[in-house]
Amino acid sequence: MPVRRWRTAVVGGVATATLLAGAAVAAPSSGAGTVGSEGAGDPYFPRAGNGGIDVVRYDLRLDYDPPSSPRRLVGRLDGVAVITLRTTQRLTRFDLDLRGLRAERVRVDGRLARFSHGRGELRIRPARTLPAGEVVEVRIAYGGRTGRPRDLGGALYGWVTTADGAMVASQPDGSSTWFPVSDHPTDKARFRFRVRVPEGLVAVANGLPVDRTTRRGHTAWSWHAADPMAPYLATVTVGNFRLDRYRDRSTGVLVVDAVDRDLPRSAAAGLAATGDMLDFFERRFGPYPFAAYGAIVDDDDLGYALETQTRSLFSGAAEEEVVAHELAHQWLGNHVSVERWADIWLNEGWATYATWLWAEHAHGRPARRAYDAVRAIPASDPFWHTVLADPGPRGLFDAPVYDRGAATLHALRTRLGDRDFLRLARLWVWRHGGGNAGTAVFQALAEEVSGTDLSGFFDAWVRTPRKPA
Ligand code: ARG
Ligand code: ZN
Repeated sequence: MPVRRWRTAVVGGVATATLLAGAAVAAPSSGAGTVGSEGAGDPYFPRAGNGGIDVVRYDLRLDYDPPSSPRRLVGRLDGVAVITLRTTQRLTRFDLDLRGLRAERVRVDGRLARFSHGRGELRIRPARTLPAGEVVEVRIAYGGRTGRPRDLGGALYGWVTTADGAMVASQPDGSSTWFPVSDHPTDKARFRFRVRVPEGLVAVANGLPVDRTTRRGHTAWSWHAADPMAPYLATVTVGNFRLDRYRDRSTGVLVVDAVDRDLPRSAAAGLAATGDMLDFFERRFGPYPFAAYGAIVDDDDLGYALETQTRSLFSGAAEEEVVAHELAHQWLGNHVSVERWADIWLNEGWATYATWLWAEHAHGRPARRAYDAVRAIPASDPFWHTVLADPGPRGLFDAPVYDRGAATLHALRTRLGDRDFLRLARLWVWRHGGGNAGTAVFQALAEEVSGTDLSGFFDAWVRTPRKPA
């Protein structure tokens, strides 16, 4: 059993630290009694998210100093996170996720709270027991040095320090590298950001830009993201950006793009189709679900793009196909989100299938041809050897999740017919928008819409590690 260190917060400028050996305290068993569990219960990331709480809003006030030399990519982040949450059980203690940064002071409803921090869990003991169903404000001062964290598969993610700022892409569990969070897609919340950076740099976040003030060599950028958002979709990306704002003519969606000034104009050429894509996807999936849209195109390279909510993030360039993919995620992945990370094919399969549909519409390339290309992969290829609805935490972003996922949807369309398939797509977004749903619920909806038993189809396509017949 690890030694638990309960740190009393700084009182009247004097830090009093209490050390308690683990053996001397009753072991708080996760989930039992009045202790919020350390995870949301997702087997892929057991400590991501937290039990006993439901976050309503994050108000993040950040100060960021980018690296002083491009040779050493280390920045400095200091923040105050004001988190409004509702308790879902009576609590003497609850956790938030926080990695790499140090919590300095924690208050619950204004009163200093004791806390300990280890293994990515910030354990908070409020001064009084919190009744179930109460809304409380947790205020955490924290900070530290930022680096370049990597996910289980080795890709850069989380708060990625760059030479001119930071690129922040937190899927699947990287939010805790930059703020104290209940980091699971089932705990959606509203966000406000106020990010102070050296004058001349731009901090871009989700939602709508609301304010910008410059004082003494620093600019504070404020953004509001009022639509419920899974924490991994939050971003604060800092760099040398040009902001470009317009209202899309056919859909009326407000678009705010941020393109790195250090990139050639051609790097953002793919964004030109955004308006037509908004219109195309609205006709298929229903109204665009959020208050704004836009892209961030950074000159640094993550090796992938991310559908950060309302403001998709692109590395190096925004290619048309990827622009379509990340935009489609706003409906499929962001508005309707996974219940468990094992369901990731519902995000990536749908977004990939949406690009097949877009290519058919815009360039006359039939979706059937993309489907045939996947079907042409021989049965002996390892491509067919993953269980689509359970790819494992290291396989979340592997090719089968995208391409077998899209092929599954195309096969389902062939099985259901165009009319029922389109009804299924719209109903899926309509019914589960703002929330979470998994594979079993998707199958049930497809069965409801078509009035047929699809268990054989779903077993073959998503639950069996073999090429479907
Ligand atoms: N969801 C992103 C996309 O569709 C990919 C994210 C990859 N993330 C990662 N940590 N490797 O393109
Ligand atoms: Zn995707």
